[in-house]
Amino acid sequence: MSSAAMNLTPAPGSLYPEQTTRVIIPATVSAMYTKRLYLRPVQLSDASDIFEYRSRQDVANYLWPKVPHKEVKETENSITKMIFRTPDASGAVGRQFAFAIIQRDDPSQKVIGMASVNALVPAPSIGFGMHPNYWNKGYVSEAVAGVIDAWWRLDRKELESIVLATPPERLFAACNKANVGSMKVLLKNRFELYQEVQLEGDTVALFVQDKP
Ligand SMILES: CC(C)(COP(=O)(O)OP(=O)(O)OC[C@H]1O[C@@H](n2cnc3c(N)ncnc32)[C@H](O)[C@@H]1OP(=O)(O)O)[C@@H](O)C(=O)NCCC(=O)NCCS
Repeated sequence: MSSAAMNLTPAPGSLYPEQTTRVIIPATVSAMYTKRLYLRPVQLSDASDIFEYRSRQDVANYLWPKVPHKEVKETENSITKMIFRTPDASGAVGRQFAFAIIQRDDPSQKVIGMASVNALVPAPSIGFGMHPNYWNKGYVSEAVAGVIDAWWRLDRKELESIVLATPPERLFAACNKANVGSMKVLLKNRFELYQEVQLEGDTVALFVQDKP
């Protein structure tokens, strides 16, 4: 395992360990293009597109709790929850690193999925989802690759004392082990499985990757 001194004991109430926040999130995060996708910062007005899949049981099955959204308001709340409530390394709060997934060649520019870094504390973790009409096309693997690449390119506050005293900066992810597609998306994107834990009757696989 490449991650130095894998002390990954979870912080109380979390799946992930504590990590000093070193990243600086820009006030305006740039949109990006991958081969087939347009990824732009998610907006509250995307809620109705996202609700189309977040309201489906086949999508909720691999989330916790396994309950589909019943109203667009719940989807709006889940978008709002992606706003970081803890400061980045510059001290800024209220920033976000969540992207709507859109097919580049779709004239309607419909949002078909989302890929995001969900929180800064106790450590950053990545999340994703897609409308079942678009599963198995490699779209989420492609979107997650773009988001991770952009994440590691963000500016950092690298104080020398922090660099010497702490392990490498890491990005985390968790997924239901039975969720084959999601496991593959993570493994294809440089994540390493480091632990399995039980949650609500499921086996949850915990993943980590070091800053390249
Ligand atoms: C899991 C999910 C994100 C996968 O999205 P996707 O766009 O279909 O993923 P990709 O097409 O990039 O697939 C990656 C790999 O998984 C495989 N795969 C995808 N879904 C699969 C499934 N249900 N069963 C088996 N393999 C599957 C793909 O064939 C591909 O395999 P390959 O790398 O050998 O070519 C999508 O199914 C989803 O949104 N599920 C509901 C919400 C969810 O589970 N979110 C993640 C929570 S951790």
